Amino acid sequence: MKNPSTNDPIRKDEINFGFRRVGKNEHAGLVSSLFKSVAGRYDLMNDLMSGGLHRLWKQSLINWVNPQPGMRLVDVAGGTGDITFRFLNQLENASNNDVKATQTIICDPNKEMLRVAQKRAINMGYLYGIEFVQAPAEGLPLCDRSADVCTISFGLRNVTDRTAGLAEIFRILDFGGHFICLEFSPAVAPFLAPLYDTYSTRVIPWLGKHVAGNKEAYQYLAESIRCFPEPTALTEEMQKTGFGNIQCQMMSGGIVAIHSGWRL
Ligand SMILES: C[S@@+](CC[C@H](N)C(=O)[O-])C[C@H]1O[C@@H](n2cnc3c(N)ncnc32)[C@H](O)[C@@H]1O
Repeated sequence: MKNPSTNDPIRKDEINFGFRRVGKNEHAGLVSSLFKSVAGRYDLMNDLMSGGLHRLWKQSLINWVNPQPGMRLVDVAGGTGDITFRFLNQLENASNNDVKATQTIICDPNKEMLRVAQKRAINMGYLYGIEFVQAPAEGLPLCDRSADVCTISFGLRNVTDRTAGLAEIFRILDFGGHFICLEFSPAVAPFLAPLYDTYSTRVIPWLGKHVAGNKEAYQYLAESIRCFPEPTALTEEMQKTGFGNIQCQMMSGGIVAIHSGWRL
């Protein structure tokens, strides 16, 4: 499935919201209303749509992070907290570490997603070491060079101004800091493409309607993936931001990609 408007020139004040062109000033509000409406069913939907695969993808991201005691983690677009919880859990299991001394921040502009993250943190017994910050990637209310690792998992696609978001991530990373991005990729292997297209444009919106009560949110998912840059283009954007030693790992036949880069 291709974005039908790819060849139409895009105005400076416009951006894609899925396949629709909307004003840049409307985009964040539209994204926000989608996540607000699905927040309560977001985790269940992830398991259902991916058949649990999102857990493996997120674990691969954590392997890239390589959690170490004392590491300062900022998870941008942290949503319901999966990445931070996995980070803390791995740290705890690895060395019987007391994670109270670890500084993690779940940052997300959406209050409802953060609220789910807070409830999950309490249920998991993470009462220390996690801060919840309501803010978009484009305006992180964090100090320069205050993070060792910055992650963004299935979040960059939703950011209205990706250039500003990447620049903010770069700014908050310390020298030697590591940025890791997990995202759906439009570069799906040709042998998978027909099945993947049918699944993502028909089955996922159907699940969205019947499980999360919002078909449009999951139609947006399929469309926004097709509008997201190919891995080589994202690598270039990261280079332009200033990241070095950039590497990219494709997974599951190109359905997702992990980009890793460093603030050298
Ligand atoms: C698909 S969820 C990903 C949540 C979580 N990281 C995960 O992997 O399960 C996307 C998240 O991006 C957030 N988001 C939307 N616009 C954003 C922006 N401009 N900056 C940062 N996060 C944003 C949404 O609120 C939502 O929580």
